Formats: sequence, structure tokens, C-alpha cells
Amino acid sequence: MSLLVKNIGTLIGIDESHREWVEGKAMSEIGTIENAWLLTDGCRIADYGTMDSVPSIEGCEVLDAEGGWLFPSFCDSHTHLVWAGSRDQEFLDKLNGLSYEEIAKRGGGILNSADRLHDTSEDELYRQAMERVEEIIANGTGLVEIKSGYGLTLEDELKMLRVIRRISQTSPIAVRATFLGAHAVGRAYAGRQQEYVDYVCRDMLPAVAEQGIAQFVDVFCDRGFFTVEQTAQIMKEAAKYGIRAKIHANELAVSGGVEVGVEHNALSVDHLESMGDEQIAALKGSKTMPTMLPGCAFFLGISYPPARKMIEGGLPVALASDFNPGTAPSGNMRFVVALASIKMKMTPAEAINAATLNSAYAMGESRDYGSITRGKVANFFITKPMPSLAYIAYAHQTPIIRHIVLNGEHIK
Ligand code: NIG
Ligand code: FE
Repeated sequence: MSLLVKNIGTLIGIDESHREWVEGKAMSEIGTIENAWLLTDGCRIADYGTMDSVPSIEGCEVLDAEGGWLFPSFCDSHTHLVWAGSRDQEFLDKLNGLSYEEIAKRGGGILNSADRLHDTSEDELYRQAMERVEEIIANGTGLVEIKSGYGLTLEDELKMLRVIRRISQTSPIAVRATFLGAHAVGRAYAGRQQEYVDYVCRDMLPAVAEQGIAQFVDVFCDRGFFTVEQTAQIMKEAAKYGIRAKIHANELAVSGGVEVGVEHNALSVDHLESMGDEQIAALKGSKTMPTMLPGCAFFLGISYPPARKMIEGGLPVALASDFNPGTAPSGNMRFVVALASIKMKMTPAEAINAATLNSAYAMGESRDYGSITRGKVANFFITKPMPSLAYIAYAHQTPIIRHIVLNGEHIK
């Protein structure tokens, strides 16, 4: 059924040039129409215009936006939202002075989550993850990438990927899955990192590819985790199955992850808290989307990625939440947008472009998601009336989302 939204105060995020992403100076421009309407045709956006030309269509559902703003749904290109239990104990350790790396070295961190995941049934894991999915939908996300990486054995990685597939089959949110076997060295391989990487390549990747259960592969390429060589090995192996990479790079140190990602045509390199001029130069002209996860820098108290330098250097940037139990226990993209503005000095328009179109690109989905464009999937949310675009970052704790439409369906 069609849905006609009337009396939209400002329709924002319009893109008529079908761009794959937006970069540099253009990131500060965002297409808008004031006093607008929008029409869907089943699950796609059919048309839009100004209220003086509102169509009258029989038999369609009508939604009065009452002057609220209509945004394309957020696209969150980096999460680990399937996990078991919580890591609040480590949160206390952190408050008492231990760093993320120190906690990991003591066998906590990712390995702690892997132990819990192993002991949790698939149904229970799904139930816990769905609570988080419902939370992010309520906060405006319409397309999300979810990683495995708390399994660290073939069986448990597949268990996670099945839970991700079940979420995608049972929730209105669109889901893309990433296989992150190389998140940490599984306990059975302690002290034998290279053997673990060989296991990922020899046993895990073929099974994942055969089941068609993940669209992307990821490696935690950083100090204390996997090396540049091991990252290249996994990316090359995945490429044999046509699986493209999204790489965790430069969270804890300038790891070489950006360069190896670009060299092997990764779809995105994510984190980038540690970035120098050389890494920015390496990204220039590539098809690899630099993706920033400011919720992680906030939670760990580490430096934020140099967003201004990247944008002024002509790069595109994407924003994502990193929703995970260890470094970013929030999947709220409004908070991510606010952090991008407050901590990285991104303008609200840049932050919205980064959290929609560019983040959709970082999942290979900007042809169908990430902007208000005729023919794209009708994923959007409508706010209360706002005085300006800046208000969405400024009033970041105010519950301003009134309506949510996913796949053309008015779900809230
Ligand atoms: O993106 N950096 C690696 N992975 C996650 C953290 C995972 C965890 O600590 O559970 C991240 O920050
Ligand atoms: Fe992450």
C-alpha cells in the first residue's frame, strides 16, 4: 500500500544525482525542501514535492507530519550487536585504571564475551540481540551491519551468523552480516596466533562462504591483535570467494590497517582514532570509505579521529556506532551524530551525510539506502518540529522521533 506523508516541515537528505557517496566540501551540503510531501509506492520512495502540489491519491494511507522534519533513516555500517550478557565488571576495572588493552591481555575483553556466547543458547542470544535491534530502530536506524567475532571457533562463529540471519528475517530493519573470525585469537589457539589465522582461512572462511551467511569479512588489525600481513592473508583468501573486507584499523595505534585495507580494496576502514597525513593520503582516490566510531573514543576516553582534517583533505567520511559490549555500549546514531558535531567539529549536515549516504556506501548499499531519492527503499523517520538542522545534534537527549517508516511501512 502507498503512504502519503503531508505537512513535512523540512524534507531533508534529498539526493537527485544518485551519488554513491559524498566527499570533501560537498559533505556540508544537504538537499532539503520546506513544507513538503512524500509518497511511497509499496516499499520504495515514489515521489515528493512541495505542499502546493500535493497529490490526492485514493486508497493510500495518509500521515500528517504536522511540521516535523523527515530524515532518511540512519545507516549504521559497523556494529557487534549480537553478544551475550554484559561487560559491566570490566567497566569497573576500567574506572579503576586498567586500559582496554590491559583488560584484553588478562583474558578479558573479547575473550570474555566469547566465553559467555559459547555458554548461551542460540535462542537466548537472538532474544538479547533483538532487544538491541528494537532499541536502534526506535532511535532512527533502518539499515545495520552486524559482525560475528565473539565465537572464535567455527561452530560459534556460525552460531552468531545464524542469529544475525534470523534477525534479518524477522525484523523490519535491513541487515548486512560480516564475518569477523579474526577479532581475537580463540582460547584454544592461545600463543599460536598465526595458526589461528590459518584456521580462519582454511576452515572458517570456506564454511562461511559456502553457507552464503556473510557479505563481508573483517579483521581487527591493530597493536596487540592481528598484523598487517595476517590481515592481507585473510583479505586475499576472502577475495577468492568474492567477499569484500571492512577492516578495524588504527584504533589503538597507527597499525598499517588503513594502507593494507586500501591496497586490497576494502569497502571501509573503521575506527581511525590514530591517523596521520600518510593515512589520509593513502585513502585519497580509493574506493575505501573511512568510517569513524566516536562512541568508542567517548567510552574509552581516547582521542577522536581527525574528522576535519579528513574532510578538508577531500575525503568522504562515514559514521557508525560500533555498538558492542566492550568499547561502545550504545547503538544510538543520534548520539553518534551529536558526538561527531561536539567532539569532531563536524557540521550537522556533514554528520547526517556521514551517518546516512556514506554509511550506506560502507555496506555496499548506497544505491538503495541512505538518502531521499525516488526509487530508494522508503526508510525514514519524522521528528517533532525543529528550529533548525543543528537541533538534532544540539538537543541530543530529547526524544524527538515521532514516526518511523521502514520498507514503506509505518511501524511507529
Ligand atoms: O570495535 N576493536 C575491536 N572490536 C570492538 C570491541 C570489541 C569488544 O571489546 O568486545 C571495537 O571496538
Ligand atoms: Fe568494532
